[in-house]
Amino acid sequence: MTIRLGDVAPDFTADTTEGQIQFHEYLGDGWGILFSHPADFTPVCTTELGEFAKRKDEFTKRNTKLIGLSVDPVESHKRWVSDIFETQGQVPNYPIIGDEDKTVANLYGMIHPNASDTFTVRTVFIIGPDKKVKLMLTYPASVGRNIDEILRVLDSLQLSSKYPVSTPVNWKQGSEVIIAPAISDDEAKERFPGGFRTLKPYLRLTQQPSE
Ligand code: BEZ
Repeated sequence: MTIRLGDVAPDFTADTTEGQIQFHEYLGDGWGILFSHPADFTPVCTTELGEFAKRKDEFTKRNTKLIGLSVDPVESHKRWVSDIFETQGQVPNYPIIGDEDKTVANLYGMIHPNASDTFTVRTVFIIGPDKKVKLMLTYPASVGRNIDEILRVLDSLQLSSKYPVSTPVNWKQGSEVIIAPAISDDEAKERFPGGFRTLKPYLRLTQQPSE
C-alpha cells in the first residue's frame, strides 16, 4: 500500500514488547511517531533504538508517543534490549512491534523490495492528533537517523498546526518563521504584533510565535 501525506494512518492491532497494542488507541489524542528498523542485533539499529529511548522525554514534552517496528519477533526484541542497554546505556522505553507476518510493514509500505525483500527500511511516520500522516522519512540501512532532525520537523509541524506560519530552510526552535501567504498584511499586523519584515510580498518573516 502507498501512503501519502494527509492520508489517515492505517490502524492496526499488533504484538509489541509492551503487549498487544491497537495503534490509534495507543496514540490517543496526541501525536505519534511510528518508526521501523531493518533488523534486531544489527549495529546502526542498536544505536538508533538507544538514542530514541534516551530522548524519549523530549518527545513526551511534545505530547508525542513513540512506537518502533521490525519484522523480528517480540521475543527477539526482548533479547536484544540487553545489548542496547549494554552499548547505549538505555533500554527502549517505548513499545516495539514484532511484525513477523509483515502486516504493518505492508500497510505502511515499509518493505522496499529493491533494497531488501525481507527487511523493513528505516522509515519515520509522524502522525498528528487527527491520525493523519504529517511527515514521512525513509533511510537506507547504512544511514542512522538524526533524532535532532526528527524533533525539529515535529516542532515545525506543531507550530504550523497552531499558527498560520511555515518554517524556512534550516529553521530551528526560536528563529524566524514565514507568515502564510494567505494572511493579508493587515491580518499579519494583528496576529504578529511584534511586527514582520517583508522580503517579497510572498516572503514575510516574523519572530516565532509562542503562547
Ligand atoms: C544496521 O543496523 O547496521 C543494519 C541493519 C540491516 C542491514 C544492514 C545494516
